[in-house]
Amino acid sequence: MPDLAIATYDRIRRLIHDEVGIELGPSKQSLVESRLSRRMRQLGIESYEAYLEHVRSDKSGDELVLLLDAISTNVTSFFRERAGLDEIARRHAAAVQRGQTRLRYWSAASSSGQEAYSLAMLLAEAAPSGNLDLAILGTDISTNVLGMARRGRYPASQLESIPDQLHGYVHDQGEMFEIDAKLRSWCVFNRLNLIKPPFPMKGPFDAVLCRNVMIYFDQPTRLRLIEEIGRLLRPGGLLVTGQAESVTGRAGGFRVIKPSIYERI
Ligand SMILES: C[S@@+](CC[C@H](N)C(=O)[O-])C[C@H]1O[C@@H](n2cnc3c(N)ncnc32)[C@H](O)[C@@H]1O
Repeated sequence: MPDLAIATYDRIRRLIHDEVGIELGPSKQSLVESRLSRRMRQLGIESYEAYLEHVRSDKSGDELVLLLDAISTNVTSFFRERAGLDEIARRHAAAVQRGQTRLRYWSAASSSGQEAYSLAMLLAEAAPSGNLDLAILGTDISTNVLGMARRGRYPASQLESIPDQLHGYVHDQGEMFEIDAKLRSWCVFNRLNLIKPPFPMKGPFDAVLCRNVMIYFDQPTRLRLIEEIGRLLRPGGLLVTGQAESVTGRAGGFRVIKPSIYERI
């Protein structure tokens, strides 16, 4: 494969920034080079310039989706940064006890679904779900990870991140395990670009997990996103960010409950 010229890399960076808000620094050049070269080989395209032209001229937008799939970092795990999940489950139990029956949760950058399913397990433990109208929406930009999330099947090696007492919510299938059908029935996964509000959902959500995605966005994009999440949360609802992210004072409408956990005023 030919080298990726700096000017072409800059054009790719700009395209990705404009489409999904992700800021790729100069240090990501070799990663972009290796990921794109794989796709170019599949297409029989021999230069990065020609590939960029191919992306731009594809009016269906499908190639852009594949480019974003190739670039995005989808690292996630079951029960990652668990404190935020526990806080949502605690409030879920209290809401059910008060008689609330319709409950809506949103994993806003769900990746392959582990975040949504971890929450589903904790909600199932927190309160009886028999008469609840309960839904967890998972959204992501990457069609690739959304496919995995919808399947709800994961390599057996990931089982160790799920606490032993919750293993009843997964079914062993040898090299893979599957999330229990009831929990899967609560979860819906759809494609959504977080940098392009307003979003089509009606809400109101009881809690939104927006974790480890805002780090990729610039400040104006983050503020627009937080404002839109605020619009979709009911008063008293929670926004949980990643531990490396924060909702600054400039994004009004939230009060800090604990680090990375904010309540809609
Ligand atoms: C590092 S993962 C975080 C997954 C999960 N929230 C967690 O904390 O473990 C970031 C996810 O954000 C998604 N993403 C990046 N830009 C996005 C955008 N503009 N809109 C929606 N999702 C985006 C990526 O595809 C990726 O799956």
